[in-house]
Amino acid sequence: MPAHRPLSHTPVMEAEVVAMLDPARGGRFVDCTVGTGGHARALLTAGADRVLGIDRDAEALPLAGAALAPWTDRVELVHADYRQVDVVLDERQITTVDGMLADLGVSSVQLEAPARGFSFNRDEPLDMRMDRSAGATAAELLREASERTIADRIFEYGEERHARRIARAIVETRSHEPVVSTGQLAGLVRRAAPRRRGQRIDAATRTFQALRIWVNDELEGLGRFLHAACTRLRAGARLAVITFHSLEDRIVKWGLRELERAGEVAVRVVTKRPLRPGTEEIGRNPRARSAKLRAAERLP
Ligand SMILES: C[S@@+](CC[C@H](N)C(=O)[O-])C[C@H]1O[C@@H](n2cnc3c(N)ncnc32)[C@H](O)[C@@H]1O
Repeated sequence: MPAHRPLSHTPVMEAEVVAMLDPARGGRFVDCTVGTGGHARALLTAGADRVLGIDRDAEALPLAGAALAPWTDRVELVHADYRQVDVVLDERQITTVDGMLADLGVSSVQLEAPARGFSFNRDEPLDMRMDRSAGATAAELLREASERTIADRIFEYGEERHARRIARAIVETRSHEPVVSTGQLAGLVRRAAPRRRGQRIDAATRTFQALRIWVNDELEGLGRFLHAACTRLRAGARLAVITFHSLEDRIVKWGLRELERAGEVAVRVVTKRPLRPGTEEIGRNPRARSAKLRAAERLP
């Protein structure tokens, strides 16, 4: 595998995000997952007056800063978890905003950066934390957790039917050597659950997805975030959320529907069906292929 390390990430469904959030009206927007600033740049180019960019990965913020350099006086970048969006806005005495975006998951920069441990295509320390200043690494979780817990997480977060076999292999391996590298884990998974004939994806894909979700606790609090974000929209403003796998999409789909139904925050779901990227975009950026965009609008 060539050492391919992009320092930027191609934003997914950029035109759809801009059309959905309508920054041409001006106003203040929050990009809850600013990453390397691609969507934020599109919002500013299209007319947003101000963008508050949040990311839990401190290493992303300088890259976002560079991408947004033409607008420094209109941009603020904050190292935080979007599940703390209420706190971030309260600290700045911002009550409501004109639009919010959450483009979930990891960026290409994180996937390709050396020593972050997200990719099974290279051999490097098994870290996988988006925020390297906090929490346990994937290696630490695999060292401490019971076989049962490992199997449950791989099954639930990876939708991997060989989860039990893989967990058994991890526990067997760790009884004589610690499981600490991506190459070691990928090899172990491929031996425990070999790829079936005709299977397109690498046998390690689902296990790596599961570990990443587990390490970063990605699904926990997503529903509460939707509620908090919708509460902060001014009337007519929208929250757009892009997901990349079915577990996340299910939470967003049902979370937004439930908000609409409960009526505690007056919102309507704008996307009865999720928007999907076009074939041209998928051809240009294969990472877009699993993206789904859903949105809700605050009612007066
Ligand atoms: C798909 S990328 C976003 C890319 C961005 N839209 C762009 O155009 O460059 C997802 C980003 O969300 C961040 N992220 C994931 N979970 C987060 C969370 N709970 N709070 C804040 N940021 C998070 C990741 O660190 C990553 O940088």
